[in-house]
Amino acid sequence: MIIPPALAATIASADQTPVLRFWDRLDPRGQSRLLAQLEAVRWDELGALRRLALQPPTASVAAPDSTTAVTPPCHLLGNPQNGTAVAEAIVAGQQALTQGRVGAILVAGGQGTRLGCRGPKGLYQVGPLSGATLFEVLLGKLRAVRRRYGKDVPLAIMTSSATDADTKAYLAATDCCGLDPRHLFTFQQQDLPALDAATGNLLLDAPDHVAMAPDGHGGMLTALAASGGLEWFAARGTEHLMSFQVDNPLAMPLHPEFIGCHILAHADISTQVVRKTDPAERVGVVVSIAGRTHVIEYSDLPATVAAERLGDGGLRFHAGSIAVHGFTRAFLERVAARHDALPLHLAHKAVPHLDATGTLIKPKVPNAIKFERFIFDLMPLADTVCVVEIAAEEGFAPLKNPVGSAADAPEHVRAALLRRAHHLLSRAGVSVREGVEVELDPASILDEQDIAAVLPHGSVIDSPQVVRQP
Ligand code: UTP
Repeated sequence: MIIPPALAATIASADQTPVLRFWDRLDPRGQSRLLAQLEAVRWDELGALRRLALQPPTASVAAPDSTTAVTPPCHLLGNPQNGTAVAEAIVAGQQALTQGRVGAILVAGGQGTRLGCRGPKGLYQVGPLSGATLFEVLLGKLRAVRRRYGKDVPLAIMTSSATDADTKAYLAATDCCGLDPRHLFTFQQQDLPALDAATGNLLLDAPDHVAMAPDGHGGMLTALAASGGLEWFAARGTEHLMSFQVDNPLAMPLHPEFIGCHILAHADISTQVVRKTDPAERVGVVVSIAGRTHVIEYSDLPATVAAERLGDGGLRFHAGSIAVHGFTRAFLERVAARHDALPLHLAHKAVPHLDATGTLIKPKVPNAIKFERFIFDLMPLADTVCVVEIAAEEGFAPLKNPVGSAADAPEHVRAALLRRAHHLLSRAGVSVREGVEVELDPASILDEQDIAAVLPHGSVIDSPQVVRQP
């Protein structure tokens, strides 16, 4: 097989001919595989990516300090001292759920490299007793909402080249974890090439394959629009879209008070935060700079600024972003039409690649640049952003790292699910004998009201079990 001359010329003028160095050694199947990938490369964008990769690193937003940035006002979930009354927000949220005006977007395209699991992270089992997967837990919550409010919540799941086939096979094998497939939509984000940090060249991770990576959770915006997902939501009457990530089984994107605050504030975007108390916590912070809201990544926040404290002893920048957002569909439609809505962020990563002799190198230190878009970069484009602070033990237990890590490991996530269950049980007046592990079935237990339907106030649980409604 020969390389089509026009493509060969494009590759040469982009100064990327090393990508063809093993061409003559490939069998016809390998040649077609590489050719298909090279034909899909957006060569016009590649030059810009290369320039970005080779220029000295810069932060996308100037590092905030106390003269330019403030923490925006936060609605404290469940706290009666809020400007917006809690009860009023809950009613508004419940009404929107009952009327079917709320949809959800689950981003599940990440490669889960730190966790090191085989296959999509969504298939990772986190249920402490049940062994339920992240997908079962998170999709289960939508079943519990349907049961409570009598309406399906349309759900769009974003996959990537790394997770698409396995996620679809899993959904088919599990009957969509009990959700009605008519209200489930999957769409795939784009890949972007990883570039050699020293030369800006494409990297091969096999003789017939260019190293690529998903374009970040911000890839959601263009992928949702390009796949017809926004029309799919519109056809279902969905006005508000709550987005969440596959690696946080405690996520509560459909909490009625959160939805209600978003609606009552007429916000383009709403976002959940947890109160940061330790400056070293690895979460970005929500700040307001010149009247616009931004999320500053923890790596872009100078340590001295992160550690600044206010008179009451709390951190000045305490609104830790947990990537649970609400958007109006109208806002997403507006920004999806812009090409410049989301900037590219560069990440130095260790990317396995072939050297000039064809030997696979697995670097221990970063050798390549990956490009990602972050969905929170939409915040400065929003006229109104509503920030809702939740308690971390209620809604944030991310799974990032392998067993035995200091934080965000499977054992921490399971412990957080158990603690949450104990807390809800005690709020429902149910006690649990010391040392007994109890899990709540996410598909039938949303809160203490659902617990009360199966366990009367005053009950005692004395053996390990999963509490569920029939
Ligand atoms: P992370 O940024 O933590 O990435 O994703 P990850 O893939 O889970 O893990 P590492 O960094 O490779 O170890 C946070 C959330 O955003 C989604 C992930 O699936 C996860 O829900 N995500 C991330 C995407 O959907 N697409 C991406 O390109 C990146």
